[in-house]
Amino acid sequence: MKSNPVRILGIETSCDETAAGVVEDGRRILSNVVLSQIPLHAPFSGVVPEIASRAHVQEIVRVVEHALAEASTPGPDLDAIAVANRPGLIGALLVGVTAAKALAWAWGIPLLGVDHLQAHLLTGVFQTGEDPFPAIGLVISGGHTALFDVPREGELLPLGGTTDDAVGEAFDKVASILGLGYPGGPAIARAAEHGNPKAHAFPRPLLGPDSLDFSFSGLKTAALYLVKGKNAPRSAPLLAGISIEDVAASFQEAVVETIAEKVRRAARIRGRDTVLVGGGVASNRRLREVLDATGRAHGFRVIWPGAGLSTDNGVMVAALAYRRLARGERDGLDLEASPLPGTPV
Ligand code: KG4
Ligand code: ZN
Repeated sequence: MKSNPVRILGIETSCDETAAGVVEDGRRILSNVVLSQIPLHAPFSGVVPEIASRAHVQEIVRVVEHALAEASTPGPDLDAIAVANRPGLIGALLVGVTAAKALAWAWGIPLLGVDHLQAHLLTGVFQTGEDPFPAIGLVISGGHTALFDVPREGELLPLGGTTDDAVGEAFDKVASILGLGYPGGPAIARAAEHGNPKAHAFPRPLLGPDSLDFSFSGLKTAALYLVKGKNAPRSAPLLAGISIEDVAASFQEAVVETIAEKVRRAARIRGRDTVLVGGGVASNRRLREVLDATGRAHGFRVIWPGAGLSTDNGVMVAALAYRRLARGERDGLDLEASPLPGTPV
């Protein structure tokens, strides 16, 4: 590896953002280009995998060019190219992996594949250079709801996950029921600011006293019955007198309290005093308040993603790859994409 500065381009196409970013020395962000596909998926109230793959194919070259131009770094001057190669939508991942391989070969620079979930967990610490491990890791997004014990970097031991909808997906579906549009998380959070979180007693799906798993589909059904009546189709109009703000606030509170309780349990069971959070739902303000307060009361600190780094981005991919490169690791042009977390075999 060259001496300073080390510049890495990170490519991210695992879901519905086509993203690329250049990071210097593992911490200085030189560019962060994120092209969201939200308008393409909005009519379907969720991510459509084939639409995502096609849009990545159309945009990846432009996004990479933009990231390099903003970083004033010609491709051949890079020290490595990194790509999120797992987990995610397989067609979407393949676009980024193929682009990264082609560029690494053309520019004659090392290629590194990184785990998207691990990358999310470092978004709060890579700029300080701190080693936050051992820690509990929580990834909460439209596609993931996962709790890990992370004894050391790179070792993600699954503690719990969702048995049905991902947490962001639950926000999106309830927002759709309430007619709030897509993506639903920010819309519900905005509506909730003007609502009473105690207006409706939504269940807290804890799944038993020691469970670290999540289940959000019951909450979604409870919201549907509450606002449209039992057995009503999703397309039915809202019942008269329903306050969207109150439903949004009460639903959000149930989700937030459930997450906080699961994290508290995980930290206690594994004896950890640090919690790393990543993913789009980590931008939820109420979650931050409640989880921070839970941490203060139960002896753990919570590290949140840096500004603008909650949602998928190429910066987190480059930042994680820097650590691998510094350890002398790299991948070959036979790097594979995998829909599953962990190293593909
Ligand atoms: O990480 P992300 O951009 O994409 C993946 O799913 O990988 O996360 C997007 C998800 C969406 O479901 C969106 O509704 C949710 O994160 N989200 C939020 C908030 N901002 C985004 N959920 C709750 N509160 C928010 N403020
Ligand atoms: Zn993600």
